[in-house]
Amino acid sequence: TPKGSCLESVKIAIDTGYRHIDGAFVYCNEHEVGQAIQEKIAEGRIKREDIFYCGKLWSTCHPPELVRPTLEKTLKILQLDYVDLYIIELPMAFKPGDAIYPKDENGKIIYHETDLCATWEAMEACKDAGLAKSIGVSNFNRRQLEMILNKPGLKYKPVSNQVECHPYFTQPKLLEFCRQHDIVIVGYSPLGTARDETWVNVSSPPLLKDPVLNAIGKKYNKTAAQVALRFSIQRGVVVIPKSFNPQRIRENFQIFDFSLTEKEMKEIEALNKNVRYVELLM
Ligand code: A2P
Repeated sequence: TPKGSCLESVKIAIDTGYRHIDGAFVYCNEHEVGQAIQEKIAEGRIKREDIFYCGKLWSTCHPPELVRPTLEKTLKILQLDYVDLYIIELPMAFKPGDAIYPKDENGKIIYHETDLCATWEAMEACKDAGLAKSIGVSNFNRRQLEMILNKPGLKYKPVSNQVECHPYFTQPKLLEFCRQHDIVIVGYSPLGTARDETWVNVSSPPLLKDPVLNAIGKKYNKTAAQVALRFSIQRGVVVIPKSFNPQRIRENFQIFDFSLTEKEMKEIEALNKNVRYVELLM
């Protein structure tokens, strides 16, 4: 993100009423998120405990001995004593080191063999040490979740699984599996992404242009974005919409003064294309 834009956006978001902040070391702006939180605490607008910060363990840090030092580094950058939630960002590991995307001479990612269960045990130790209030995962499929859930001696289950989720990718099977196991689904790209061709499959049409979302929005004097967000929260999916625009940051918060009927929920569910915007091809 351009220098300072994350700082400004987080401050506007906190003033607007947002309390859940989804971040990651790999976004390279955690220092600005931390600064925004500190400034709002100093202003007396919030207390630390009002904020729910989710941080993420990057794929080059899966070896168990790297997990706690990596979280400690994040905490230092954020100027916080703990994160509310710490999650494994991806189920696949990359070669440890300074390169975020370590590549070989042919430009191929260099993977690394680690045991996700061992990584999970190191995550559990971070919770025991009070560095993370809760621990979870991201981009895990059912098989990977089962690996953790069936781990002998499991101390803490993942509380959440952050995955792509929106009206064009509704994740019915994973949502049901997670419901059965009390795992909250946190939906990323709830507005259908910024359509950046470097990491987004733009052959799938833009979500916010969808006629059904727009028609339902008209009825409630809401935008397609607000309808998409309302749809997710109404089916129990946590949403983390991203915006750097003050007006849209506020717009995305105005979703608690209307509700969708059962028929409208079904109509939106029927938009599912089972196609991801974020293919994570690496
Ligand atoms: P911007 O930062 O200019 O607002 P997602 O959360 O699905 O990844 O979507 C993020 C993208 O959606 C960003 O490009 C963001 O752009 C845009 N966006 C965020 N909120 C809205 C909104 N209410 N209406 C239209 N576009 C939005």
